[in-house]
Amino acid sequence: MSAYSLGALLYEGKAKRVFATDQADLVAVEYKDDATAFNALKKAQLAGKGELNCRISALLFEHLAARGVPTHYLGVDGATWMLVKPVKVIPIEVVIRNVAAGSLCKQMPIEQGTVLEPPLLDLYYKDDAYGDPLLTEARLERLALVTPEQRQAIEALARQVNRELASLFLGVGLQLVDFKIELGFTASGELVVADEISPDTCRLWDVSVSDVQQRILDKDRFRQDLGGVVEAYGEVFKRVQGVCPEPRVYG
Ligand code: TMP
Ligand code: ASP
Repeated sequence: MSAYSLGALLYEGKAKRVFATDQADLVAVEYKDDATAFNALKKAQLAGKGELNCRISALLFEHLAARGVPTHYLGVDGATWMLVKPVKVIPIEVVIRNVAAGSLCKQMPIEQGTVLEPPLLDLYYKDDAYGDPLLTEARLERLALVTPEQRQAIEALARQVNRELASLFLGVGLQLVDFKIELGFTASGELVVADEISPDTCRLWDVSVSDVQQRILDKDRFRQDLGGVVEAYGEVFKRVQGVCPEPRVYG
């Protein structure tokens, strides 16, 4: 028996649905099998993706929490449901790049695979209607989405997430090439990592594979029509599960 009941649908995103519950301090997130890319120009249903992303995110949130990184995560319920704290999400996507790939190589003369030391941190304005544009210092200041102090805290937290996740993944033979996180404030004003952390939002390369396509174990398999998307996510789950405990069941 669950210790809560579902309330209204608060928000439907491309890969998740967010529901209120009968408890003010509890929100339920359903991970969907929908896959989208290029601002939803490319769409598909991938059976099993929702469950894998829910499980992987849960294990990663628990790993981060155990290392002092505050997150919205509270537990899982069934295969595709995650319980989280209600958070006011900051409309900024924080991307950290350890290795050059993706949009960076399309927009800059930087070769794919170039190690970026220190890791590059990019901020994007989260709004599909505008295509999630890269923020400049001046635009960030103009939009006044966060105070300078909050921005500093966001970047410090994102870099801590990067250190923790890069080391966790490396331990299971995966290179964390880059990832995107979203952050928000809880009712008590705490800055936490929100949304999800999964192969939808990370680039992960198998360190033991040299072939530049075969090594990809993330959503680039879908973006580039490489096939084997769910199998790749399953491989990531299997490896992470090998070093992280079972996710905590809520309720
Ligand atoms: P990019 O190379 O396309 O800018 O992506 C950088 C990282 O951010 C990559 O790990 C994928 C992730 N990402 C998202 O999670 N959502 C998005 O909408 C985009 C564009 C990227
Ligand atoms: N998440 C974005 C979309 O659904 C872009 C991407 O991940 O490539 O379109």
